[in-house]
Amino acid sequence: MSAKRIAVLVSGGGTNLQALIDAQRRGDIVNGEIAAVIASKPGVYALERAANAGIPGYVVARKDYPSSQAMTAALVDKLRELNIDLVVLAGFMVILTQEMVRAYPNAILNVHPALIPSFCGEGCYGLHVHERALEYGVKVSGATVHFVSEECDGGPIVLQRAVAVEEGDTPETLQRRIMEQAEWVLLPQAVSLFCQGRLQVEGRNVHILES
Ligand code: GAR
Repeated sequence: MSAKRIAVLVSGGGTNLQALIDAQRRGDIVNGEIAAVIASKPGVYALERAANAGIPGYVVARKDYPSSQAMTAALVDKLRELNIDLVVLAGFMVILTQEMVRAYPNAILNVHPALIPSFCGEGCYGLHVHERALEYGVKVSGATVHFVSEECDGGPIVLQRAVAVEEGDTPETLQRRIMEQAEWVLLPQAVSLFCQGRLQVEGRNVHILES
């Protein structure tokens, strides 16, 4: 099986991108290579992380297109031009239209900083997720890696890990703990499983095949 070409889509700091880059360096992304990083706006720190790792960076910015449909079409064109097999949304804060999912069915992974179906859906991203979890008073939260479907945060779940909420947590401290204990571990794992052809989707269920 030829190595899968991975594009990582980012909008900000890119710590999840860094976790993928570090995993690739350790040889933990089996049968895959990060071929491109695409940012939804110029100047984000994630692009610097890509440059430092020698990975080509691109910008496809929402403001340069008249609609999110036009932006999605430009993104799909770019991904095709780069021969991408797997798209990873790693802190990508733009909601794409259905053309994206149709172009890459069961080939887009997203990391969400909560245990889906809790604290997810439109408007629930980044620090807002942790604000809501703390407001609700949950004692555990965590992270989910899932395939992207046409429903926001509603696609088949690949991996999840629970993380404890601690007394005195702020959205920032909870976010950091969830990143360290869950997101940065699960995302590279899920990407590697995909690249090895070990994720089999059956309806809402994702089966992880033995290597
Ligand atoms: C991460 O916590 C990621 O799970 C979240 O944004 C943060 C991005 O951080 N994504 C979402 O909320 C998507 N719904 P990063 O840029 O440092 O990886």
